[in-house]
Amino acid sequence: MGARALTYEDLDGPALARLLGVPSCEIWETVTSTLDVAHARAAEGAPHGTLVLAEEQTHGRGRLSRRWVSPRGCGLWLAYLARPSRDAPSGVIALRVGLAVGGALRALGLEPQLKWPNDVVLCDRKAGGILCEARWKGVRLGWLAIGIGLNVRGPLPPTLPEHAIALDAVRPGITRLAVLRELVPRLEALSYADTLTADECSTFEAWDWLRNRQLAEPPGVARGIDRSGALIVETPHGVARLRGGSVVVA
Ligand code: BTN
Repeated sequence: MGARALTYEDLDGPALARLLGVPSCEIWETVTSTLDVAHARAAEGAPHGTLVLAEEQTHGRGRLSRRWVSPRGCGLWLAYLARPSRDAPSGVIALRVGLAVGGALRALGLEPQLKWPNDVVLCDRKAGGILCEARWKGVRLGWLAIGIGLNVRGPLPPTLPEHAIALDAVRPGITRLAVLRELVPRLEALSYADTLTADECSTFEAWDWLRNRQLAEPPGVARGIDRSGALIVETPHGVARLRGGSVVVA
């Protein structure tokens, strides 16, 4: 699966787990994907809250089978194992995780926005993304591996799209540890209810990068999200609700 690292920001796994209040934290030098490790640990019975971090991912993945470039030391490549007591839809969870990431970064003085369904945007550029992968046992949810990728330190490799940005472009000196200390408690506090609350919707609205933007695909204007996490698009033929996929801004 990869090679283990001893430390991450000068802390080893047990020290980081204690600091963050999670049952266990694995720190890897190189992995295919932290999500792979999280699924493997989950299959072995690892508890809710298990955290997997890596310096580098060789096969980091994003939504829609896209590759997620995850070079050494540049980012927070994290997977968090959740064992919700209910079968919440992973689309709603991904939006909530976006709110958790947004809250964490705002606590550190940044002003990120969220682009439906899973992008973290800073200065109109992509700073991170979220990928939640569910594993089912029959009709019941077995576990959820919550993957978060955040470009923390530049310079970013030229293989990344030019609309990518690292957090330290806006907040020089920001560390992965500082982000983790804000983010992990928010992940621990995540709700797994199957619809968003009015508060969650209004926070999303305040941070919504797509809102009122003209879309080329599907043609229309983005008008926010509903309680089920669907994107509302005003089209020439009426209101459409997108429950998955992606959009192209005009
Ligand atoms: C996206 O924007 O499409 C989602 C990107 C998610 C990337 C993170 S990095 C940590 C975790 N491991 C992965 O392989 N993917 C997620």
